[in-house]
Amino acid sequence: MSVVDDIKARLDLVDIVGQTVKLRRTGRNYIGFCPFHSNTRTPAFVVFPETQTWRCFGQCNEGGDLFGYMMKKEGWDFAETLKMLAERAGVTLTPMAQVGTQDTVRKDALINALEDAVQFYRQQLVGTDAGKQALEYLHKRGLTDETIKIWGLGYAPNAWDELSKELKRKGHSEQILLDAGLLTEREGGGGYDKFRHRLMFPIRDTYGKMAGFGGRVLNPDDVPKYMNSPRTDLFDKGRILYGLDMARQAIRATEQAVIVEGYMDVIGLHQAGFNNAVSPMGTALTEDQFRLLKKFTRNIILALDPDAAGEKATLRGLETARKTMDEEGEITFDSKGLLHVESRVNADIRVTTLPNGRDPDEIVLADGEAWQTIVKNARPVVVHVMETLAAGQNLEDAKVKREVAAQVLPLIDDVADPVEREAYRQQLARLIRVDERALALPSQPIGSGSRRKAKDAEPTEPAGRISSIAQRNRLMEEHALRYLVKQPHELYLINRSLGLCALSPLSEEDFIEGDFKHYFRLLKAALEQQLVTAEEYLEENLPDILQEPVDRDLIEKSVPPSEDKIRQDQVRNILRMRRNLAEERIQQILMLQAQPEGKHFLPEEEQMLLMEQFQFLRLIDAAMDSKEAGGTGRETGHKGR
Ligand code: UTP
Ligand code: MN
Repeated sequence: MSVVDDIKARLDLVDIVGQTVKLRRTGRNYIGFCPFHSNTRTPAFVVFPETQTWRCFGQCNEGGDLFGYMMKKEGWDFAETLKMLAERAGVTLTPMAQVGTQDTVRKDALINALEDAVQFYRQQLVGTDAGKQALEYLHKRGLTDETIKIWGLGYAPNAWDELSKELKRKGHSEQILLDAGLLTEREGGGGYDKFRHRLMFPIRDTYGKMAGFGGRVLNPDDVPKYMNSPRTDLFDKGRILYGLDMARQAIRATEQAVIVEGYMDVIGLHQAGFNNAVSPMGTALTEDQFRLLKKFTRNIILALDPDAAGEKATLRGLETARKTMDEEGEITFDSKGLLHVESRVNADIRVTTLPNGRDPDEIVLADGEAWQTIVKNARPVVVHVMETLAAGQNLEDAKVKREVAAQVLPLIDDVADPVEREAYRQQLARLIRVDERALALPSQPIGSGSRRKAKDAEPTEPAGRISSIAQRNRLMEEHALRYLVKQPHELYLINRSLGLCALSPLSEEDFIEGDFKHYFRLLKAALEQQLVTAEEYLEENLPDILQEPVDRDLIEKSVPPSEDKIRQDQVRNILRMRRNLAEERIQQILMLQAQPEGKHFLPEEEQMLLMEQFQFLRLIDAAMDSKEAGGTGRETGHKGR
């Protein structure tokens, strides 16, 4: 239960309103004069104890929950309201900024230990005899002292407890060192230094907080060549991109991110002034990593070793690759996988051709312009595969033509954008010199791409009866917020869809819950400020729960690739929220009117309000049927009514 729920469960809205408003019971509800507008003739303010909500059916025509009431009544902002109500309810508050304080304290301890380790390794590198060999090696690789300093490179001495002795002296406990991944656990308890006689690369998260280390051998006979921190609470190599903290500004400025293979490549490129380079850490790129990048740009260039880029695998078997992709959700560097990601994260992914056997750091440190040319010549994934397949083949041979087409067509089929799809088809036709019409035959049965399997992705209502609209809407409100928190700029597109259906933009009025109203305001604030990206702003200011991606159960499985589809789902979700609210209002009015004294205190305008709500309902239903908001034409959105 969230703090907000907890507080609501302990306080009664009727009590609280009753302290300042004289309430009279009518049937199941309470009625009084609205405290928010001056009127002493018609009591139009109603409190609904069952849903713990209130509404003024008079001039204000506004309503909400406990939080909304207190904020409006006292003029407090959400944080203040939370504080006051928590006090009143006897709920201890963990300040919003540090949800789960205990967890934060522990993580800070891990980060501090890692920062001290960075210092220690650096000291070893630049200040000891043993470190000299490592320092010379870095110089030989072309790195300057300035670069070595900026990236915090270091040397782990060839010993079992030098680091641990030093860090314990600084007050870090053995357990913290183990949890930070700096020590390896020994069988009889305790631990020994994990990294020994290695060049150390500090690994930081997107915002520069320490997460772990990569350590490279200095003795060519040692294995593994690179050793990374184990998975810890801070370090999950599938969710971090090396160098992103240093590259993010340049990525935004150049509107492009270059993905290379290793630590040395990233550092070499930055030193040469190409600051938009990042790398994964010895694993295939994950979708999480693509999503990280997407915060900064949609244009991604892969500059990976041709082997790792899986060209060979691509040629061997697309089917296998696709299966692993579907099962594990990890992107192996094959073109099929890349195309999936490309459409799922709505990116433009291009592939470079690196001269055989040369790594980016080598190339760029020798010749910056050569590197620039390589990046400029990066080609879209499909084109890259096409040309790789065709290279060195006799394209006059009908059999070769057929083979190339058979390999490439399923890939083209998977391109989300129809215009691009058509362009690739033409390009393929030109490449293998066949009439384009011969390629235009539907290749449906071959590539059963998930694009076509996309199903309607409405959030299904959880099993079991849900008692009130407020509760049901809470789930839907959360669904909408989680989505918008991840891609705030989608709000514009969603509002446009609503606008096309003659509906007003999404507003805080759409949210019943006071805390959600507050989060929605934060979302708007995030879009209005210019200091950081909207995503960063939200990351700083929102509680963890909303930062989680939209419920996988609700969405991802059933809507694989198309962002359009996901947006439609969101618009529909919002329409259903509104529909529920309108229905609830109608119910409330009808219920009040049905009560014996109802007709006396419900002024004529309420009849108007009722009509308005009915009209609004009709508008929403029309929107649900329409193409803009409801569906693709095939699905007209009758579901959920
Ligand atoms: P490479 O073996 O291609 O090394 O690994 P490299 O980057 O060219 O390294 P240098 O230039 O010889 O120093 C590429 C990346 O794969 C990860 C590391 O992140 C490395 O930078 N890797 C490699 C591992 O995690 N473990 C390994 O054993 C090898
Ligand atoms: Mn290398």
